[in-house]
Amino acid sequence: MERRLFLIGFMGTGKTTIGHALAEELQFALYDSDREIVSREGMEISELFAEKGEAYFRRKECEMLAELSHCQDAVITTGGGAVLSSANRELMSKSGYVIALTASVDEIAIRVEQDRNRPLLQSQGELRTRIREMIEQRKGYYDFANLTVDTTGRSIESIKTEIMQNL
Ligand code: S3P
Repeated sequence: MERRLFLIGFMGTGKTTIGHALAEELQFALYDSDREIVSREGMEISELFAEKGEAYFRRKECEMLAELSHCQDAVITTGGGAVLSSANRELMSKSGYVIALTASVDEIAIRVEQDRNRPLLQSQGELRTRIREMIEQRKGYYDFANLTVDTTGRSIESIKTEIMQNL
């Protein structure tokens, strides 16, 4: 079994929740790329986007993934847009087992609705429309994963079991 797992997927597909469950089950360390960036920069993601811009955040995200890809016995959860960089996709593919999580637009909307800290979903207009547009723009970017798991309407336990059976 690979000693390093990467969780990728659109916002609200359950990366953080499933990352926790997998790390606990495997007795692996858990690293969340966004959390690490927030703690280093001393700013929330929304503040980073507003004050330094998305391009700055993407640079930090690349640097952080390069660093985290050396961790052993680790579950690494990534931000939904980390896959937009081909360098990040290649890095994840060559340094670990990549799991993509998916969920329906309705379920994503329910999961992210209360969260003010996702700057890319804060634009005016209907949330589901915005999510649908972004999923369309990112079509294909998550396809390099070794395993793709739909989390819609499922328990953490059942998702975890499916992943464990495929490692
Ligand atoms: C982003 C997803 C977020 C965070 C940032 C940008 C994206 O992470 O990295 O707001 O571009 O999809 P989550 O997927 O954990 O919400």
